[in-house]
Amino acid sequence: MDKIIIRGGNRLVGTIPIGGAKNAALPLMAAALLSDEPLRLSNLPHLADISTMAHLLSDMGVSIAMDGDAPDGGHMGRVFALDASTLNSTTAPYELVRRMRASILVLGPLLARHGHARVSLPGGCAIGTRPVDLHLKALQTMGAEIELTEGYIDATAPNGLQGGHVLFSNITVGGTENILMAATLAKGETVIANAAREPEVTDLAHCLVAMGAKIEGIGTDTLKVQGVEKLHAAEHAVVPDRIEMGSYAVAAAITGGNVLLQGGRADLLESVIDVMREAGVDIQDEKEGLRVQCTPGNLKGFDAMTEPYPGFPTDMQAQMMVLASVAGGASMLTETIFENRFMHVPELVRMGADINVHGRSAIVRGVEKLSGAQVMATDLRASSSLVLAGLVADGETVINRVYHLDRGYERLEKKLADCGAEIERVRGEG
Ligand code: UD1
Repeated sequence: MDKIIIRGGNRLVGTIPIGGAKNAALPLMAAALLSDEPLRLSNLPHLADISTMAHLLSDMGVSIAMDGDAPDGGHMGRVFALDASTLNSTTAPYELVRRMRASILVLGPLLARHGHARVSLPGGCAIGTRPVDLHLKALQTMGAEIELTEGYIDATAPNGLQGGHVLFSNITVGGTENILMAATLAKGETVIANAAREPEVTDLAHCLVAMGAKIEGIGTDTLKVQGVEKLHAAEHAVVPDRIEMGSYAVAAAITGGNVLLQGGRADLLESVIDVMREAGVDIQDEKEGLRVQCTPGNLKGFDAMTEPYPGFPTDMQAQMMVLASVAGGASMLTETIFENRFMHVPELVRMGADINVHGRSAIVRGVEKLSGAQVMATDLRASSSLVLAGLVADGETVINRVYHLDRGYERLEKKLADCGAEIERVRGEG
C-alpha cells in the first residue's frame, strides 16, 4: 500500500486548483439512471470513489464515454457522458457497495425508472453505524415494497412510485438525494420536508431540472417535486468541492502561508470561513477564487459544532482540529452528526497535540509544535487531518493507508508540493 511522507515546516505559497465535488459527482452520476438519454457531466474529479461509481454503473449496463480529461495541473476536470439506455441489470452487488456507501444512491433512480432494484445493504463504517433506514422508510411512503434478504435491499414498485409526503425525522444528505431523484419520475407531487440543504443536494436538483424534472424550493428544507413521464438528455458541470477547499485553506493557515484556492467559492463555505476568520485567518474572495493568508503565530482558539448545512460541516471537523492544535489558547470542537468521528484524535496526540475528548466534544489546547510520527488513518477526512498535521510538524511524518486520501483528494501531493510542501508518495505493493 502507498505511503505519504512529509517533512514539515514549509510555508505554503502559491495556487491550488479546486476540483469538482466528489459528494456532488456521485449522486449526479446515479441520476443518469433516470433517463434513457445521455447525461454529460463535466468538472468531475479524478478520484477512486468516482471510479467505483463508474464501475457500478457500467456493471449494470450503463455506457460511459470519457470525453475529456484534465491535463495534468489543470483544473477543468473530467467529462463523462453516461447513457443508461443500455441498462441490463438493476443489482448493486456487495463487492462494490462495500467499497463505497454512496452506492446506495442508485436505489431511488432504479426503482423510479424500472420498478425494481436490488442493492446490497451498506454495513457500518469507521465513523459510525450509518444506517439507511430513512432512505427505505421514505421510499415506502412512496409506495415501494421493501424486503431485506441475504444482506440485500429488495425493492419493488409494481405500479410505479407514487408521490407522497416524506418527512425526514433526521436530516440526511444521501436520503434527500435518493428521494429527490425517485420523486422526479413518481406519479403526482412529492413533498420532501426537513430536506438536507447541502450545496451538493442543490447541485443535483439543478441537474435534474436541466433533465426536465419539476422541482420547487431548491436550496430550502422543503422540496416540492411534480413527477414527469420521462427525463431527457442534459449537460451539467459539477459544483466545486467545498471540503477540498476548506482542507487547503487550513493548510495555508497553519503554515503561515498565502495560497489562492483557484475556482474556490466563499458562498459554499461560509460557516468554515467564519470560524477560520475568528481563529485569525485572513480570507478574501478574489476574481479567480479564494485567497487564504495567515501571519505565523497569529492563530487563536475557537469553538465549532458540526451541523447540517448551512452549519459547520462534519467533513471539516478533523482538519479544523489540526488548526486548533497549533493555535494559541483552547478550542472546543463538538461533533453532532456521526457518533464515532474522533478517530484522528489518538493519532494527532501521538504527534504531540493536546486533545481531550469528553463525549461528543474535544477540548484542544494549542501546543507550540507538533512532531512527526508514523500515523495511520481510518477514514478519508481523518487522513487529510494527518497530512495537515504533517505539514507543520517537526521532522518526518509517514502516513500509511493512503487509499483513504485517494478516495477524496485528487493529486494531493502535487497540489501541496507545487506550493512548497516537502511531500512525496512512496509506492507500495498490494
Ligand atoms: C454525506 C456525505 C458525507 C458527509 C455526510 C454528512 C456523500 C457521499 N457523503 O453522507 O461526506 O459526512 O453527508 O454531511 O455525500 N442517518 C440515519 N439513517 C439514514 C441516513 C442517515 O440514521 O437512513 C444518520 C447517519 O448515520 C448520520 C446522519 O444521519 O448520523 C447524517 O447522515 P447523512 O446525511 O445521510 O450522510 P451521508 O449521506 O451518508
